Amino acid sequence: MLAVAVMTATTATASAQPTAVPLAPAPTVLRTWSAPAIATVATPRVSRLSGSDRYATSVAASRAAFATGTHPPVVYLVSGTSPWQALSATPAAVHQGGGVLMSRPDGIPAVVAAELTRLAPASIVLVGPASDMSATVLDQAKRYAPDVRRIGATNRYTTAHALVRHSFAKGSGGQGWLATGQNWVDGIAAGTAAASHRAPLLTIDGRASALPSATITLIRTLKLTSMTIVGGPTSVSSGIQAQLTTLLGAGKVTRAAGADRYATASRVNQLARPALTAGPAYVASGRDFVNALAGSFLAGRTKRPLFYSQPFCVPGSVRPTLRSAAVTKVVLLGGEGSIRSLVGTLEPCRSIDAPSSTWVLVNKKNQLSPKTYVPAHLVTPAVTYPNGQRLRSDAAAAVARMFAAAKAEGAGRMSITSGYRSYSTQSYLYSRRVSTNGRAYADKWVARPGFSEHQSGLTLDVAAVGASRCSTFTCFGSTPQGAWLRKNAWRFGFVLRYEKGYTPVTGYSSEPWHIRFVGTPLSGAYHRGGWHTLEQFLAEPAAPTY
Ligand code: DAL
Ligand code: ZN
Repeated sequence: MLAVAVMTATTATASAQPTAVPLAPAPTVLRTWSAPAIATVATPRVSRLSGSDRYATSVAASRAAFATGTHPPVVYLVSGTSPWQALSATPAAVHQGGGVLMSRPDGIPAVVAAELTRLAPASIVLVGPASDMSATVLDQAKRYAPDVRRIGATNRYTTAHALVRHSFAKGSGGQGWLATGQNWVDGIAAGTAAASHRAPLLTIDGRASALPSATITLIRTLKLTSMTIVGGPTSVSSGIQAQLTTLLGAGKVTRAAGADRYATASRVNQLARPALTAGPAYVASGRDFVNALAGSFLAGRTKRPLFYSQPFCVPGSVRPTLRSAAVTKVVLLGGEGSIRSLVGTLEPCRSIDAPSSTWVLVNKKNQLSPKTYVPAHLVTPAVTYPNGQRLRSDAAAAVARMFAAAKAEGAGRMSITSGYRSYSTQSYLYSRRVSTNGRAYADKWVARPGFSEHQSGLTLDVAAVGASRCSTFTCFGSTPQGAWLRKNAWRFGFVLRYEKGYTPVTGYSSEPWHIRFVGTPLSGAYHRGGWHTLEQFLAEPAAPTY
């Protein structure tokens, strides 16, 4: 595999020296939503609400909600392994001044048992049928409250309606919230907003063209006067909206929907609190229900918004509110594995698909598009040994700073052995490796054309200049330069892309010389969060094979 890199340096196209380094193209923002004009402030303070697992996170939310010595009238126990029965439980609990805790279906975890002891509620409601909350949980719950009951049916809508009937008095009137029970994202957003208004959440199968008669009866029994539907027409049909309008009257039915889950939750928050007062905002990953569900009850109880974000960045539809004066603190729900520290610093989302984005993910499952992409602004980095290699101007500037720092810090000098590669260069490298060593071997070391991040202009291979007893790539990792790079590349916006031990994720053997420019916000968060692959950081699937 040594020949790969050496030959790369000699086959890549040499470039003319530019007189000025042009700016790199602006990153592509993934999603947009036209948020209202809001006064913005500096990045708000950040905290995390998390425990060692989902149950401990739900306990953390409970502890934040109830001071020791206060005894809520009721605690709802919901499954920590499935969201479907739990959606209506949050507003039901909050309406009663109660709490929500997660349990394993087969038994109450010790951390939750300790919290139930601390809370000593008057009653416990187990949410869901025995498949969600077993008879064992029912028995165990009796140790912590004098009144324990189960509200649960195999049909999730039956459970939801029963929860509403249990918590909300007949004729209580006011507003209601409606979401499909097919989609936890809308359901948890709706449940949080409903809870913050001490209003009920009715869930239905939103794909149907009309509401079931049980839902109509419930709306009439409660004497609801208005309804907010959460989600677009594919979540809750236009037929249901029209039917509700007939039932409640013109102007009494509102729909909160956005282009995606992030924008929908933002819209829900805006409708729930059009004039948000100063305080915290809760942010959970929109990719998994666990932490959103754990935090939903706390957000609802304290009348604060719950936003969804990507695990690694804040979508454009969410960012304006999080930056507004009304948000004095961002509370991340869950640990780094669920939601990265980059969300706390309100890092805007960039595309991970666009080839010009510094965050583009290129691997065996993600071909560059177009596969023959040529970056703009390729320059020869201002380093002592560029070897005729070119990089995108932002990566080139970073590498020049990095090589200078390595030398100043006593790590020695480095050279660039391979930078930007064209599609045809990559084709040549790959087919040469296949003809020499066979396809299986080649695929462990060289990307197929269109699949190499060298083609993005953001990647380079580094060699140690003057390293004694190391003239090959394989020993680069044990040179002072290799050790320094491993420890410090992140300071300059680079990540080591193919670390030892991560072949099942990246698809490649360890390459301590191959570094990828992603910019310092991402590389800093990657380093501090203890990440080892871009795939995992970006919450994308492993790419061991094509
Ligand atoms: N050596 C890496 C995998 C590439 O060819 O891009
Ligand atoms: Zn490389």
